[in-house]
Amino acid sequence: MFEHFNTPQELFGYQLATTMTMENDSLDMLKELEGAAQADEIKKLFAHHQDETRQQIANLERIFELLDIEKNAEPSPTTKGLAKEGSSMIGKTDPKLVDSVALSAALGTEHYEMSVYESLITMAEAMGAAEVQELLQENLQQEQHTADELNAAAKKCAAKAIV
Ligand SMILES: [Fe+2]
Ligand SMILES: [Fe+2]
Repeated sequence: MFEHFNTPQELFGYQLATTMTMENDSLDMLKELEGAAQADEIKKLFAHHQDETRQQIANLERIFELLDIEKNAEPSPTTKGLAKEGSSMIGKTDPKLVDSVALSAALGTEHYEMSVYESLITMAEAMGAAEVQELLQENLQQEQHTADELNAAAKKCAAKAIV
């Protein structure tokens, strides 16, 4: 399908639709990582962020409504690529090191998600869409908080693996 964006609103609508795909793929990836993780604490971390991701999807749906844009999902291959790389690495890794790999794969996705939300927030701010900006900010904060938790867990795992 040919697409050409002439206005910031058109561009925003399209990027919102790619973000919907990104979040749905992140949800799938988190389920997979929860299944692969060995430690209960890390499984819980992945399960908790699945709940947050469902809220994030609801926030995106609300933004479509607020802007009166038809809800849809456009292609977003990045998260699929990160998930593929993560599961390939997990397949090659001894169970005792799998948690480190799973955490690292998840961290990559969180940083990508953060960059997507930062750009959407910039655009929403410029459009003067305050409520939209707030919903995006909620999602961004959850990604940032998750990245911090993943990092802390990864440090613990790495320290254990060295001993
Ligand atoms: Fe997310
Ligand atoms: Fe996330």
